[in-house]
Amino acid sequence: MEQYIVKGGNPLVGEVEIGGAKNAALPIISAAIMTDETVTLENLPDVNDVNVLLEAIGKIGAQVERVDRHTVRINGSTIQDFSVDYDYIKKIRASYYLLGALLGKYKNAEVPLPGGCNIGSRPIDLHLKGFRAIGAKVEIRHGSIIAKAENMRGAHVFLDKVSVGATINVMMAASMANGRTTIENAAKEPHVVDVANFLNSMGADIKGAGTEVIRIRGVEKLHKTTYSIVPDMIEAGTYMMAAAATKGDIMVKNVIPKHMEAVTAKLEEVGCEVEEFDDAIRVVASKRLMRTHVNTQPYPGYPTDMQPQIAVVLALAQGTSIVTESIFENRFKYVDELTRMGANIKVEGNTAIIDGVEGFTGARISSPDLRAGAALVVAGLAAEGITIVDDIVYIQRGYEDFEQKLQSLGAEIEKVSSEKEIQKFKLRVG
Ligand code: UD1
Repeated sequence: MEQYIVKGGNPLVGEVEIGGAKNAALPIISAAIMTDETVTLENLPDVNDVNVLLEAIGKIGAQVERVDRHTVRINGSTIQDFSVDYDYIKKIRASYYLLGALLGKYKNAEVPLPGGCNIGSRPIDLHLKGFRAIGAKVEIRHGSIIAKAENMRGAHVFLDKVSVGATINVMMAASMANGRTTIENAAKEPHVVDVANFLNSMGADIKGAGTEVIRIRGVEKLHKTTYSIVPDMIEAGTYMMAAAATKGDIMVKNVIPKHMEAVTAKLEEVGCEVEEFDDAIRVVASKRLMRTHVNTQPYPGYPTDMQPQIAVVLALAQGTSIVTESIFENRFKYVDELTRMGANIKVEGNTAIIDGVEGFTGARISSPDLRAGAALVVAGLAAEGITIVDDIVYIQRGYEDFEQKLQSLGAEIEKVSSEKEIQKFKLRVG
């Protein structure tokens, strides 16, 4: 079992390059099979979730050719099988995007129902509501969602809750339905816009992505394209928070500063200096930070995927902060681990009341999920002494070269997999 070992206390200083967004890459890989021509995807992050999904589309018959670490060519003309293995959905919930893609292209899809996950129950009723509205017959049998359609026709789809997944899934299926579909109360996240741009580059006709109303005119066929994935706002935000937590100075490169506005605003509120460039953001934290309140909301609100990272920063800030989690029901699992490092946090329902402390001390902790895992590593980097983080497979699902990028910023961090390696690290860092 791999772990991260960290010796904290160094301010992180330097430049870090951000990769493509995992949450855009997953639906875009799924949508790439919707044409029989070859699609080239660039700026794909080399992270576990992406690699598992590439395997999953290979398993149903698509041809996947890796051109280099961040570029793949996908050809969906050889797909024979519309049924995705449970093994894949178990590893990544987002393989449910294959439902929208297969249904759109073949009017036939079978994907196992994803279970809950570490951040709470994750229903997909809205995805299914949308598919039904555009004419699919959707049943759940033996643990799988079976969606079929004789004739998919455009419709009005109102999403009762703002959902990234449902917006994207319905948008994919509707882009090959007959006639016009309107998705109302759509999610506005940059990755929703990226998927729409990608589909449009394949010949789809989607307007309004990035607003509450997305209008889609179905087309019969999609064609080849070459497309580069948008930068990952959550990866970028994580390094911005690492600068704040370690009192560092980091230039985060290859980002779209507009996507970072909610994160930037909070960092300024707590007393960081944030400087924006065309495609980079510099975060400097030179003094003890101050309290603030955070409430997670759909984009352009403060992202739930950045909630654990800012909680780490606030746990070291002066005063009492309140963090409200409005999107997922169980996203404070990391609090017990942070408490072991000396944080003073009380959770009541969907609210964390954080009394800032002067500093953390290193401890052995465990990563409960992807973003919380990254946040705990950041906590370790800010802490005095050694921290060992278990269950880092979660982190590897979404952060490319996490330890290398942190090392390049001056962090003392290593991936280890034995007691001997832990001792070696301890001897080296003294
Ligand atoms: C995506 C992201 C995830 C991020 C989340 C919110 C991917 C792979 N994952 O997840 O990292 O935290 O957006 O920005 O892109 N809901 C329903 N019924 C549904 C669908 C969702 O009730 O059919 C609820 C969810 O329980 C949640 C809220 O809607 O409370 C938002 O979820 P959603 O935006 O769908 O999240 P995901 O797409 O699963």
